[in-house]
Amino acid sequence: MLYPLSYEGASASLPDGGVVSSEPILAALLPDTAELTEDDVLIGGVSLTRLAEDYGTPLFVYDETTLRERCAQAAGVFDDGVAFASKSFLCGAMARLAVEEGLCVDVATGGELDLVLRSGVDPSRIIMHGNNKLPSEIERALEVGVHRLVVDNFDEIGRLGEMVGEARPLDCLVRVTPGVEAHTHEFVRTGQEDSKFGFSIASGAARDAIEALRGIEHLTLHGVHAHIGSQIFDVEGFEEEVKILVDFVREDAFDELCVGGGLGVAYVAGEETTSLHEWGVAVRRAAAAAGLDPSVRLTAEPGRAIVAQAGVTLYRVGAVKAVTQRSYMAVDGGMSDNPRPVLYGSGYEAFDVAQPFAPRPQAVRLVGRHCESGDVLIDEAWLPASTGVGSLVATPVTGAYGYSMASNYNRVPRPAVVFVGGGAARVVLRRETFEDLARLEA
Ligand code: LLP
Repeated sequence: MLYPLSYEGASASLPDGGVVSSEPILAALLPDTAELTEDDVLIGGVSLTRLAEDYGTPLFVYDETTLRERCAQAAGVFDDGVAFASKSFLCGAMARLAVEEGLCVDVATGGELDLVLRSGVDPSRIIMHGNNKLPSEIERALEVGVHRLVVDNFDEIGRLGEMVGEARPLDCLVRVTPGVEAHTHEFVRTGQEDSKFGFSIASGAARDAIEALRGIEHLTLHGVHAHIGSQIFDVEGFEEEVKILVDFVREDAFDELCVGGGLGVAYVAGEETTSLHEWGVAVRRAAAAAGLDPSVRLTAEPGRAIVAQAGVTLYRVGAVKAVTQRSYMAVDGGMSDNPRPVLYGSGYEAFDVAQPFAPRPQAVRLVGRHCESGDVLIDEAWLPASTGVGSLVATPVTGAYGYSMASNYNRVPRPAVVFVGGGAARVVLRRETFEDLARLEA
């Protein structure tokens, strides 16, 4: 099923093709449990107005029901070994939730590995990535015994040859580049030949890597892995990827094939997206059509599609300034809690929590509080006419790559993160303090 997100209304184009509109905020962009009342929005049965009062702003709010539902969709449509890509949003509560819902957790650095282990996740549910794994990271992965290590390059194969042994066996996948050019931002495109990740199939490097890995004793190579990019809307790119991978491993007798992550989500009205379930069905169908043995485990590692829509960020408006060209509305966060607009020109929408049904005729540039002009959250945000200083403004679909890419630019402490569900809220990451920021001073 496609989610139709378009509706009539005054609109303006965004660089990534979506539109913003002056209509009331679209419920389809909010977490699954969102309830709109005349003067508030509830998520997980909890008032956003109340959350802002209790925990302050900026605040990341995640709907636990949406998180669990998306994890369950992924676990339901792919085989065991399907993972949550923790780079999209990681804290102990999230890692445990993903595992409870049947997923593994994919980590890309020693830092992510450490947090996931500290969270109590069994190493047999962890998949280790990285295009330049430090020897110390490989060491830790071997020591704890991760489920899979995804091998990226020949230098790493050399290191594994020295580090893997009878007492420290290793289960691996090998990362290959299928040569698929996904239609997404150049910075998050990874499946093409000209990439820092993985071994090229076309050049023969991937075949050489497989041969080299087969020569390492106590290392079991289970299959291939590819990841063609992120925020990809068209399923055809994944279908093409699967066909290339299945053709490539036809003679190999592998028992696993991982198609990576990358499924796109709708950030603004007018964008149409595919559900995790539909994505998995399409991938399965493509694999079967290409002749993949049904006994081979078909896995994936979505991140954004699990956490993006579950998250909403709350900000308090502190200043409004009108110039001839436009109005600037400044909130108490900015590029430090959501660098995506600055990095990728990503579009978002905004709504006034106290008047969710109100038309949004006021066009403003929603900006943060950092010391640079580029600190823009929404280039042209549409808000109700009376939204102004003191209003609680929310940006939906901010659950992915916001907190995880948050910085302390200008020594702004990172926001707190709360999970809501069943009418209750719990802090899963407390708000950073100035003391936290000062703790590294030597
Ligand atoms: N697997 C691998 C090997 C990856 O590199 C990634 C993302 C994923 C899975 C998860 O992809 P997802 O399902 O979340 O698209 N910071 C950028 C996105 C970078 C994605 C990096 N790799 C953004 O904010 O759009």
